[in-house]
Amino acid sequence: CGIVAYIGKKEAYPILVKGLQRLEYRGYDSAGVVMLNQGDLNLYKKAGKVADLKHFAGDQDIAGTIGIGHTRWATHGVPNDVNAHPHLSHSGRLALIHNGIIENYATIKEQLKKRGFEFKSDTDTEVLVNLIEEVQQKENLSLEDAVRIALNEVVGAYAIVVIDRTDENVLVAARKGSPLVVGVGKDEYFVASDASPIIEYTKNVVYLDDQEYAVIPRNGRMQVKTLGNVEKTPFIEELEMDLEAIEKGGFEHFMLKEIYEQPKVIADAVRGRMSASEGWIKLGGVSEYINRINQAKRFIITACGTSYHAGLLGEYLIEELARVPVEVEYASEFRYRNPIITENDVVLAISQSGETADTLAAIEIAKERQALIYGICNVIGSSIPRATHAGSYTHAGPEIGVASTKAFSTQVVILTLMALQIAQHKGSISTSYLRQVLYELQNIPEKIKLTLKLDAQIQEIASRFKDATNFLYLGRGVNFPVAMEGALKLKEISYIHAEGYPAAEMKHGPIALIDEQMPVVVLATNESAHDKIVSNIQEVKARKGKVIAVVNEGDVEIKALADYTIEIPATEEILSPLLTVVPLQLLSYHIALMRGTNVDQPRNLAKSVTVE
Ligand code: G6P
Repeated sequence: CGIVAYIGKKEAYPILVKGLQRLEYRGYDSAGVVMLNQGDLNLYKKAGKVADLKHFAGDQDIAGTIGIGHTRWATHGVPNDVNAHPHLSHSGRLALIHNGIIENYATIKEQLKKRGFEFKSDTDTEVLVNLIEEVQQKENLSLEDAVRIALNEVVGAYAIVVIDRTDENVLVAARKGSPLVVGVGKDEYFVASDASPIIEYTKNVVYLDDQEYAVIPRNGRMQVKTLGNVEKTPFIEELEMDLEAIEKGGFEHFMLKEIYEQPKVIADAVRGRMSASEGWIKLGGVSEYINRINQAKRFIITACGTSYHAGLLGEYLIEELARVPVEVEYASEFRYRNPIITENDVVLAISQSGETADTLAAIEIAKERQALIYGICNVIGSSIPRATHAGSYTHAGPEIGVASTKAFSTQVVILTLMALQIAQHKGSISTSYLRQVLYELQNIPEKIKLTLKLDAQIQEIASRFKDATNFLYLGRGVNFPVAMEGALKLKEISYIHAEGYPAAEMKHGPIALIDEQMPVVVLATNESAHDKIVSNIQEVKARKGKVIAVVNEGDVEIKALADYTIEIPATEEILSPLLTVVPLQLLSYHIALMRGTNVDQPRNLAKSVTVE
């Protein structure tokens, strides 16, 4: 979900609506705004898209130079107009927007009800705004004091912005566990859950830390304080991102743009971190902790979604090259058992957004148990990089499409560099092999460009299979995680059921699904298991399944067997996922497009899931 707020000299409504559109990529199911004007809070909210909200609010009273807006991804209560944010307090004095979850909302709600508060919605957010109002009324406090005292009673995660009908000259914003950034303009301020709604107005921003709040006045300097009421000096940073990075730049969808950006972002991810000709690799975070990393008895990789699939590749890479045991676990599972972790472990947390609540929680557990925590994240300054001991940014630039593409590729690149750097330090690989891999890594952007040229062919395959109800994706070794990722991409944006399986495991179950209707995508670039993969393809063909094979250029053997072959440039086997994933991304994109789904904002999904 997304937050945007404005205070200044301009009309707030257009800024709020544009900001909400910039945040649409995060995934949401309802939207709302409230403007404060001459003592009135004019509130408009709607289930559906920001466009629906605009349609509804456009010709009503939308004046005002202070306002807050929100896109909601339902947690408590179904997505409808009433549950959408902003929420007003009982007396109508306060309006609040909120990302996150208030865990003790039920208890507070009961107490407030006893004291005469009435609730319109099922949300935890409405409980919070009423709690603030109660505190404020009881002792006739300022908005700032009321917010601080109320937040000290609350358990959970939040980013909030509150305004008070009786004071047009201040916004109060606070965060714990959910990001919030303040844009500092000339005579105006912006608040948002990430920088994308702010970037076109100012590059000067202040990221709030956990347990901090900001008092943002119409005139003069903002104040930042801790929830313990200690004032801090706000640190103004300059955003590195530019507007272009968050616009489509001629592509029909962000997802397509991001698929096509992969050659560039991979080059960005390796820049300054390796030299093939000189034979060195240097990830700053690895160098800083090299002794501890070198002595580690085990790596544990934890992540969610697509980042988890990159983690599975990390296991192959680190075990193969650096010869250290690796375990990979969904962050959500890791945190709810009692994992055995010691100071001899390195825990790698992978996350595009750097905000995924389950991954953050897993980090906290591992930290308590003294492991070294290393983050691989894309969003600079996000919560995971702040919570880890060391890390590497993937430098993929803003990823707007909900289905992750370029972030995945750069995560794999960082894992490759990491495995190589440790291996070099340990002496577990030969210098010549190291150089060979580095040279190949350098060539990957060019080879992705060649792979992208297959787009038209992939589009044709998509049109042939767009009406399928199931898909199977098979791969062995490094291509098994890619099979899972390909299946996830298809599920996410086309809503076709798909499964990724180790090719050899098919015969122990999924083979029962195969008939003449079943498309089976086989990743067959592995030189080490070529014959085995040929046998797997034959098993599918014998049951009349339709095989779409991704092969190395010139693989006539598989071409003769498969119904469709996608020929991609050959590369070093451990790097081949960086190429094999590309046709799978394109295939799901085209199928989704042909089925008429919302490619960039698939139903029910959110870009970053800041709830557990
Ligand atoms: C959400 C997104 C996925 C993403 C996952 C992990 O579910 O829809 O695309 O892979 O979160 O996100 P992260 O930001 O931690 O990589």
